[in-house]
Amino acid sequence: SVERTLSIIKPDAVAKNVIGEIVTRFEKAGLKVVSMQMKQLSKEDAEGFYAEHKERPFFADLVAFMTSGPVVVQVLEGENAIAMNRDLMGATNPKEAAESTIRRDFAESIDANAVHGSDSAASAEREIAYFFGA
Ligand code: CMP
Repeated sequence: SVERTLSIIKPDAVAKNVIGEIVTRFEKAGLKVVSMQMKQLSKEDAEGFYAEHKERPFFADLVAFMTSGPVVVQVLEGENAIAMNRDLMGATNPKEAAESTIRRDFAESIDANAVHGSDSAASAEREIAYFFGA
């Protein structure tokens, strides 16, 4: 079915000048960008967005990284958009990401991993509302 998912192009990928290359991958796969905003996240923005990871040992580093420079927040729409985006991104750790995935091609490390994508319908709904409202 047609779904919407939240995508974030993270500070490492913005700094590398690959916003266009990443968006092209979404578009070539049939996903449509229906909302898009470049944004410098505040500490509160990043902490709230990643609240589910609050107790994880990497939380402080994650928040520091996500506020280290501007990000591009997008809503992608298309058939099976949530799983499609996750396939395009590849594994969280770029060392484990399959060939031709965004993380394999553009990410440096598990922290600086180029993109975020919603992992379920419930998180897509929450994450889209977090940045773009209902
Ligand atoms: P993301 O999909 O944005 O969701 C949480 C982020 O935490 C993840 O991508 C990684 O960039 C980062 N992270 C750092 N260490 C880990 C870890 N051990 N497991 C999962 N995510 C991690």
